[in-house]
Amino acid sequence: MLLRKKLCVAVVIAAILILMLASQGIHKRHFQLPLALPNSRTTITSREAGVRPTASHAHQIHEPTPSPPKTLLSEAEDEIIKGEGEKQLIEKPDSSQRPCGCSESCISDLDGSKWFAQRYDPKQEPVLRYKNNKFDPEALAWWLSLQRSRNDQTLEEMMSEMFKVIAPPTVDYRPLPSRCRSCAVVGNSGNLRQSAHGNLINSHDTVIRMNKAVTRGFENDVGNRTTHHFLYPESAVDIEHGVSLVLLPFKLRDMEWVTSALSTGQVKMTYMRVRERINADKDKVLVVNPVFFKYVHDHWTEHHGRYPSTGMMAIVFALHICDQVSVFGYGADQQGNWHHYWEDNRYAGAFRKTGVHSADFETEVIHQLAKEGKISLHL
Ligand SMILES: *[C@@H]1O[C@H](CO)[C@@H](O)[C@H](O)[C@H]1NC(C)=O
Repeated sequence: MLLRKKLCVAVVIAAILILMLASQGIHKRHFQLPLALPNSRTTITSREAGVRPTASHAHQIHEPTPSPPKTLLSEAEDEIIKGEGEKQLIEKPDSSQRPCGCSESCISDLDGSKWFAQRYDPKQEPVLRYKNNKFDPEALAWWLSLQRSRNDQTLEEMMSEMFKVIAPPTVDYRPLPSRCRSCAVVGNSGNLRQSAHGNLINSHDTVIRMNKAVTRGFENDVGNRTTHHFLYPESAVDIEHGVSLVLLPFKLRDMEWVTSALSTGQVKMTYMRVRERINADKDKVLVVNPVFFKYVHDHWTEHHGRYPSTGMMAIVFALHICDQVSVFGYGADQQGNWHHYWEDNRYAGAFRKTGVHSADFETEVIHQLAKEGKISLHL
């Protein structure tokens, strides 16, 4: 009698357990749907990112619960910024699928080159966001130590003022199997003269230029399209309508300057006199993440020079927002001076080698990138 009662209880408990497991199974399957898709790493679109897969909850548990964003960014955007996708790739590598849609190769495909895989960190955010930047404190401290002059405002205050003037960036730069983004990074070297690379440069989806670059009168050699123009206060020029100004903030003051140069014009000096105002689309301005400088310094220039050059920053930036990169107009002369393609006299430029960058080492890195098949270098 007692035995039957015990058996009965056991059966009931077993039934309850089975029911619980079954319902959890359904639950799990439902939420794992995005993970089951081929190439889960890259198919997380803004829509899907809103449904957080259960598997990634493990990563989230230790983090403080994010407060609901009271920002212009959508919640989906916030999810993308966290970069959960990369973690999933490490857990579930799928070598049969390319991370991008290019037929030959993808920069973010780390299988082909050990040298590249040791340096390239797909989790790095090249662009400063309005919220959820998750600055590495050590990297930020290093960046702040680059300043020569003291600043009264903190980075947070500076960013808050800046994003009142420029629009917070919303683009997701991670690779997708559905697209192949080609980028041309165009340096200002005199080696572009008589190169006839104009059409080739124009044929890229993204064309990155920098500092005082001009195209007028040199279209045949350098092309006439520009999508992104890298500069800092001391190298500033007006930016054409439709082109993204990409600020390289070497110091806090540079963010203050861009804010001012696109609004009140009150900042007239950094360590030298600078342009008070510039023309640029305020909704297209991007600011390179301060932490990205440290990443380039650590991983790419390996502490050669005090900090990386504009040219180096632009190439590594391109490696993070493009699937294929072609490099034009790079190459310093023996003294490490840039001979600008628009100057007849190689010593006429205002942009001199300052001694803070290591041109030799940077050139080595660029050549190695080409050797590893990660960029095509046009000299
Ligand atoms: C570049 O040049 C081509 C050919 O002359 C012209 O059709 C095109 O509008 C130009 N594009 C820009 C952005 O200036």
